[in-house]
Amino acid sequence: MATKLSVNINKIATLRNSRGGNVPDVLQAAIDCQQFGADGITVHPRPDERHIRYADVRAIKPIITTEFNIEGNPKVDKFVELVLETKPHQVTLVPDTEGQLTSDHGWDTIKEAVYLRDIIALFKKEGIRVSIFVDPQADMVAAAADTGTDRIELYTEAYAKNYHNDREKAIAPYIQAAEMANLKKLGINAGHDLDRNNLHYFSKSIPGLLEVSIGHALIADALYYGMGNTIQLYKRCLQ
Ligand code: PXP
Repeated sequence: MATKLSVNINKIATLRNSRGGNVPDVLQAAIDCQQFGADGITVHPRPDERHIRYADVRAIKPIITTEFNIEGNPKVDKFVELVLETKPHQVTLVPDTEGQLTSDHGWDTIKEAVYLRDIIALFKKEGIRVSIFVDPQADMVAAAADTGTDRIELYTEAYAKNYHNDREKAIAPYIQAAEMANLKKLGINAGHDLDRNNLHYFSKSIPGLLEVSIGHALIADALYYGMGNTIQLYKRCLQ
């Protein structure tokens, strides 16, 4: 089965917010991305709402025809309330701090085991699939399995950074982490800094990769190639 492409539309909201008003229209972008072949829509509402807003998330939910993935930190109460209200197909839990430029580390699934177990149970009770953001470390993946999460999302910044120097070395910890996830019967997602250059090698190297969520590079490419072409280009990388 091909790896699913979930398009993160935060950057479209960032562009809109830079001017006020409603251009570009984030809701229409979500509709169009799905029509152009995206397998899902990802949003990452941060507490200061500088990218996608909480109101956007509520507006997008009814137009989803694919899969809706909401990312964020469950230590923010209003994030938990938003997820429980909108009931996406998947929630991806990310330990990002307020004001952080972008996500830059995964959960410490050993230290935070009790916290994660409780919060994951809350979402799963509502029928929401849970994924947790982790660094590519086999011990963190093994401990993730004890939290009750359905999936992990491998944090791919280090892979992307080192891909051009030595891609075999860059992918090695991710293969080990994925093998542990497969052993523990955890689903595998991945994201952060994936792009048209590094995506194909990542997807063909990782056994059982279910989904990637991509925002920054994909939206930047869409400026040149158009959103429809760009989504198809990324999907081709996943074949
Ligand atoms: N996954 C998580 C948890 C993220 O925080 C982000 C960025 O918001 C992404 C994936 C997508 O990263 P990028 O925008 O670099 O494609």
